[in-house]
Amino acid sequence: MADWQTSDARDRVIVALDLEHDAALDLARKLQGHAGWMKVGMTLFYECGPAVVAELKELGFRIFLDLKFHDIPHQVRGAARSAALTGADLMSVHSLGAGAMLAAARKGADEAAQLRGAPVSLVGITVLTSMDQDALASIGVGDEVAAEVDRLASLAYGSGANGVVCSPQEAARLRALLGPDALIVTPGVRPAGAALGDQSRVATPGDAMRAGASHVVVGRPITAAADPVAACDAIIDEIAEALS
Ligand code: C5P
Repeated sequence: MADWQTSDARDRVIVALDLEHDAALDLARKLQGHAGWMKVGMTLFYECGPAVVAELKELGFRIFLDLKFHDIPHQVRGAARSAALTGADLMSVHSLGAGAMLAAARKGADEAAQLRGAPVSLVGITVLTSMDQDALASIGVGDEVAAEVDRLASLAYGSGANGVVCSPQEAARLRALLGPDALIVTPGVRPAGAALGDQSRVATPGDAMRAGASHVVVGRPITAAADPVAACDAIIDEIAEALS
């Protein structure tokens, strides 16, 4: 059984801290003991650097460092190594960089894991959920979105990534394709009745779990809630029910 399958519902929720430093830390303190994970994306990382990962680790969270590596293999190996040395537990890489680059990311992450004495997981980004069929065609990809997602997911998993990031609507298909152990991390999650914001292809946290997601990434339904702790707890309850 993969490590993530044994975790409780709190460990299936990754809160996207798309906020500036002080607000992010303030919210993280409130969510201690509630959500198990925080996601540090480019906005927060480019503002604060590796120190913010250490600060959040000190509060007891596991960290998804979502920097979406995409460069030549030599650079990506170094990037993955440096990023993993911040203490991140999970990192993202663009599957579009192809096999050699994905393998280089694995290598860099593993080098850091050995130095740290703790494993680091990698997830491959397939087709960004902001891209549609026309956007794919504009970069020369004539395949259907679903076929391209499946190809990139298989490539990432076969090249050493631990799983993928995908829309909850792709989770069931990718669970069948990749098997029971793969990480399937799904953003675009909205509790029933919540504001959609700029997300369009959404699912509830419970539905995402039932479709085979290992983790859900939730931002504004928690970060912009009047009571973020209550919003987080409601999502965790919904996940616990789906898992039971
Ligand atoms: O606020 P919201 O719940 O929409 O935040 C979702 C988070 O997941 C954001 O940090 C966003 O960048 C990220 N994300 C996404 N869609 C993807 C990949 C990442 O919404 N395909």
